Amino acid sequence: MKLTILGGGGFRVPLVYGALLADRGEGRVTRVVLHDLDDGRLNAVARVLAEQAAAVPDAPAVTATTDLDEALRGADFVFSAIRVGGLRGRADDERVALAEGVLGQETVGAGGIAYGLRTVPVAVDIARRVARLAPDAWVINFTNPAGLVTEAMSRHLGDRVIGICDSPVGLGRRIARVLGADPKEAWIDYVGLNHLGWVRGLRVAGRDELPRLLADPGLLGSFEEGKLFGADWLRSLGAVPNEYLHYYYFNRETVRAYQEAEKTRGAFLAEQQARFYEEMKRPGAAALTAWDRTRAEREATYMAENRESAGAGERDADDLSGGYEKVALALMRAIARDERTTLILNVRNRGTLAALDADAVIEAPCLADANGAHPVSVDPLPGHATGLVCTVKGVEREVLAAAASGSRATAVKAFALHPLVDSVNVARRLVEGYTAVHPGLAYLR
Ligand code: G6P
Ligand code: MN
Repeated sequence: MKLTILGGGGFRVPLVYGALLADRGEGRVTRVVLHDLDDGRLNAVARVLAEQAAAVPDAPAVTATTDLDEALRGADFVFSAIRVGGLRGRADDERVALAEGVLGQETVGAGGIAYGLRTVPVAVDIARRVARLAPDAWVINFTNPAGLVTEAMSRHLGDRVIGICDSPVGLGRRIARVLGADPKEAWIDYVGLNHLGWVRGLRVAGRDELPRLLADPGLLGSFEEGKLFGADWLRSLGAVPNEYLHYYYFNRETVRAYQEAEKTRGAFLAEQQARFYEEMKRPGAAALTAWDRTRAEREATYMAENRESAGAGERDADDLSGGYEKVALALMRAIARDERTTLILNVRNRGTLAALDADAVIEAPCLADANGAHPVSVDPLPGHATGLVCTVKGVEREVLAAAASGSRATAVKAFALHPLVDSVNVARRLVEGYTAVHPGLAYLR
């Protein structure tokens, strides 16, 4: 079984490899091909993987290449976790938006649109190559903005591309924990778009336990989303939103917190990561130790500005290990070994949310097995959530249209229609600002 990792020099690759090392089952991945545009990054990550594999018999063999077609040929699975424009690009996305007084987060608001406009053409090129060179491969997309990018790729790969994210799993796990339920036995009633979904129920043995949580201020104050959104707001919603909805429900405060921060997340990570990759050039450096230290710092500071603006304090130690690699591995096992399971994934809607068309990629609980991932039916979202989902999907569609046509006017429309961009004039200036700093947006005319 051959797994190709695009963005193979990326910092989170050792998480995926760690999950593969722990998998001893029949039909497991035996070959990993790392692809990246940057040789130095590939070498750095390969050093970490070599140390991870040192004590493990029959560890999956790792090779690295900068040739995309070579990497794709013969792949059974392709993981795409690329970052077009790098972390410097992420920092620029934030800076340009904040200068206009709007949010520049990598997946939400103006920043997400800018990042999407840069990423979609590259993702489409990858999808076309996969369709040609590895037509039977399954593509697992981590590349953000994950819902939008998965939809772009699905136009070429159909249901063979599946998007993943760790945030719904983390949310479900936290709610189960405060309710004293085993996450494996709980049914998490979650639906929406990527980074834009709500948990409306958590059923254990057929009984919805969420009302018990919503009625208990002590329990509500004891976990990340409860602290972030506040007990009153969660009770008003009657649901627990994905943490990324903090940028919508508390937009003014999060924009201010980002403006006042010494460094934006992208700028902080650009420096932090550069130090790690520099260190990896030193012969004899302890690669795994350096990687782990850098990872711990990255995780501890995740969404720090949001937590600070909400007075939510430090992250819970139990929340520090992301978990997207576990979702990825569970999905691969389901497909490769027909191990039927349910996972929250990004797939085409097919009538799951009545307000969206069949091809719209949504994030929903799916049944996964050798036939891929299929969304299960869910209760409809309330009007306010349906409205937001439809608006943001409308924005995503304008991004896809702009990427396909190269139309600057369509790009302006994408920004202008986003609920977190408050004027068409701001949208126009954002397109000016972003095209001025991003070479990857030169195609917009
Ligand atoms: C979560 C999200 C990912 C996102 C990551 C950013 O895991 O689900 O989509 O890429 O956070 O974390 P970072 O450390 O890059 O800010
Ligand atoms: Mn995510």
